[in-house]
Amino acid sequence: MIVPALQTEPAEAAAAEPAVNEQIAPAPRVSVQAFCETVETAAAVQAAGEDRRLGKAHLKIQMGGITAAIEAYNGSPTPNVIVIETENRGDEILDGLDSLAEVCDAGTRVIVIGHVNDVLLYRELLRRGVNDYLIAPIGTIDMVRSVCGLFSAPDAKPVGRIIAIIGAKGGVGASSIAHNVGWAVARELRLDTVVADLDLGFGTAGLDYNQDPPQGIADAVFSPDRIDNAFIDRLLSKCTEHLSLLAAPATLDRVYDFGAEAFDTIIDSLRATVPSIVLDVPHLWSGWTKKMLIGADEILIVAGPDLANLRNTKNMIDLLRAARPNDRRPRYCLNQIGMPKRPEIKPGDFAKALEDEATAIIPFEPQIFGTAANNGQMIAELSSSHRVAEIFRQLAQALTGRMETKKARPGLLSPLLGMLKR
Ligand SMILES: Nc1ncnc2c1ncn2[C@@H]1O[C@H](COP(=O)(O)OP(=O)(O)OP(=O)(O)O)[C@@H](O)[C@H]1O
Ligand SMILES: [Mg+2]
Repeated sequence: MIVPALQTEPAEAAAAEPAVNEQIAPAPRVSVQAFCETVETAAAVQAAGEDRRLGKAHLKIQMGGITAAIEAYNGSPTPNVIVIETENRGDEILDGLDSLAEVCDAGTRVIVIGHVNDVLLYRELLRRGVNDYLIAPIGTIDMVRSVCGLFSAPDAKPVGRIIAIIGAKGGVGASSIAHNVGWAVARELRLDTVVADLDLGFGTAGLDYNQDPPQGIADAVFSPDRIDNAFIDRLLSKCTEHLSLLAAPATLDRVYDFGAEAFDTIIDSLRATVPSIVLDVPHLWSGWTKKMLIGADEILIVAGPDLANLRNTKNMIDLLRAARPNDRRPRYCLNQIGMPKRPEIKPGDFAKALEDEATAIIPFEPQIFGTAANNGQMIAELSSSHRVAEIFRQLAQALTGRMETKKARPGLLSPLLGMLKR
């Protein structure tokens, strides 16, 4: 079979991959004004403003450093955050900031980007109420981390990691994988986990976990102004010790046309209270599905081994990488591999075309998947030692960022079926 996408060169993509696997909670709707002195810093701040985590923030950048800032706020109100770059030495910085303090509203937070690496200066700045001190040259992610860090108390609640799972085509097994992976995160890693079924009309999470909750995600999405943590809590149905479900109604009396922001409040609320959130995203390309994917901490695209799946996976990865330049690239896994008599595109050809190995390759196992679906059970509940259960455990580790020290157990999986990327 000829795969057109294979003709692309195996790229330098892997090398250019930003090594970012940390959890940064998005900043709320705040105003940020930066006063830079060097074009390099201005460029980094500009790029940070385009990061998904600062998507709600309003960022304005100008040159002129601290002098320009003092002039700008002499008589006009200050924003939520001021970012000041200064090439000055210690004392001059402190004098400048004292003058700025006179025109700065209480409550405005200040980030200083300096060119001096000096612990004493750093301490003195913090003592005078500066919120953060970064040393130039700064990277885009340093700026993102600093601004977002101002609004998330480090000692407070856990910052939830959002794992979005979507199929490259309908029916490829994305929901089965989302539910089993969510279950494994809760069971194996003992992380409190919520699986949110975003397929409102047809979602199967309720069936798969053998739950029939009276309420679920529809109650939240149709009454956004009622959403707070207590409200979301009531909509969750508990499946196991660490796993809760935000179920889809799977009824058709309403239609489910949403605006791009429909799920934002729900996601924000979950992220503030639950360490691990698995989104079962239906195979749709709409404003809100795109937004859910772009905003996630990890993305897993589930693909079957045919040309349409390959094309769609490539298109999704390309678009998402461009929209998330400071994040790890979206992962993909191959599912239902080895179906008898079916011609399939080989995992190696997928890897070449996508310039990335699959994070997991899951065999076609109709017996165990069929039994699990009909019983409302997970694969690992039927057989914890089944090779597919092991793959779900490893996927859970990879998607929660716990793969670094643990490799796939050799010998347990055949090279093809167990191929898991670190
Ligand atoms: N590896 C597998 N081997 C055999 N059957 C599988 C496998 N993975 C999933 N299935 C089965 O494929 C069917 C479709 O799975 P699932 O509903 O998870 O797909 P989906 O991508 O979420 O579909 P939709 O587009 O409808 O949301 C289910 O019956 C499921 O049990
Ligand atoms: Mg589904």
